[in-house]
Amino acid sequence: MDGAGPGLPVDPIEVLRQRRSAKWQTYPADVLPLTVAEMDFALAAPIADALRAAVERSDAGYAKAGPELGRALAGFAARRWNWDFDPAAVTAVTDVGVGVVELLRVLTRPGDAVAISPPVYPPFFDWVAEAGTRLLEVPLACDETGWRLDLAALEAAFATHPAAYVLCNPHNPVGRVHSPDELAALVRLARIYRVAIVSDEIHAPLVLPGATFTPVLTVPGAAEVAVSVLSASKAWNLAGLKCAAVVTAAPRMAAVTGGLPADTRWRIGHFGVISAVAAFTAGEPWLDQLLLTLDQRRQMLGDLLRQRLPMLTWHPPEATFLAWLNCAALGADDRARERFLEHGRVALEPGLHFGAAGSGYARLNFATSPDILDQATARMARSAG
Ligand SMILES: Cc1ncc(COP(=O)(O)O)c(C=O)c1O
Repeated sequence: MDGAGPGLPVDPIEVLRQRRSAKWQTYPADVLPLTVAEMDFALAAPIADALRAAVERSDAGYAKAGPELGRALAGFAARRWNWDFDPAAVTAVTDVGVGVVELLRVLTRPGDAVAISPPVYPPFFDWVAEAGTRLLEVPLACDETGWRLDLAALEAAFATHPAAYVLCNPHNPVGRVHSPDELAALVRLARIYRVAIVSDEIHAPLVLPGATFTPVLTVPGAAEVAVSVLSASKAWNLAGLKCAAVVTAAPRMAAVTGGLPADTRWRIGHFGVISAVAAFTAGEPWLDQLLLTLDQRRQMLGDLLRQRLPMLTWHPPEATFLAWLNCAALGADDRARERFLEHGRVALEPGLHFGAAGSGYARLNFATSPDILDQATARMARSAG
């Protein structure tokens, strides 16, 4: 284990390279991958134990996401965010992507417009198309204080009557935790213009010290127009195991989840359900350690950028382990990212994947060891010089 800094341990790079997941299989062995949102920390012990026990029992059949998942998530949401909901209002889905696409299919008719706010997690663009709907882009606003929802632009867009808005709460890649006032204004617009809100809250457990998460369904009036999709997969690094949860809080939206195809329940990962229940019931001490570790890495990254890459600018994220770096000083489009990869052998996510507003940007994943962050920023600095 890497003892270079406090916080959760990370295996040395040669051990990390043995992982078979996407982050570690996409680039040649000399590239440091700070790309796809997987973390380099070891699994939380209660989750590893639950999975090991399942393997010991040869318990690898179909998932049966019963009331346990709803109870586990509702307990976590109540303790963490003072959000009380009926465990029976939880519907398991394969992953957040499948949940959002299937919800859009029920909430819209073919060809309807669905709004999103770039720069945003790239699959949002694909999900709208996959659901047979039309993309309506309402970019975030950005000023010297950072990125936020552009409520005036959202009002103008909602006045054209899109069927739905896919909210990213907190927002990947900019790391913004939307405030209660912003969410209240969004819900007010959604009610006036009859736009359904599908809130992707996968990063909610990853709100870092200094910020507070507001679940959209806790906003007065939201229950009739909004549905939330959550998962343990980002915060506990379980993306390959395939389990997410849709939450509703009013009969109208419960009817929407009731309209999801019945067969989707057979497409959920059994290990996904087992690990999600373990995460939500017994994973909080580890999560607290993780958040302190990510807070340190965020601080460290800020120091390294200031010292080594002063031409890059950023607004440190309030949530997630992702840094949205303005690299425009090194060129437009994805030029800086290409330079970091070709000459520095450091892979970041290309800003343009997050929409046109991502020109000149790159996204860096800092859920790794101090040593890897140190090496990566040193290589980026050399390649930029
Ligand atoms: C905002 C957001 N939504 C969804 C996902 C993917 O979730 P899933 O693998 O459950 O589809 C990610 C992954 O990074 C994400 O950042």
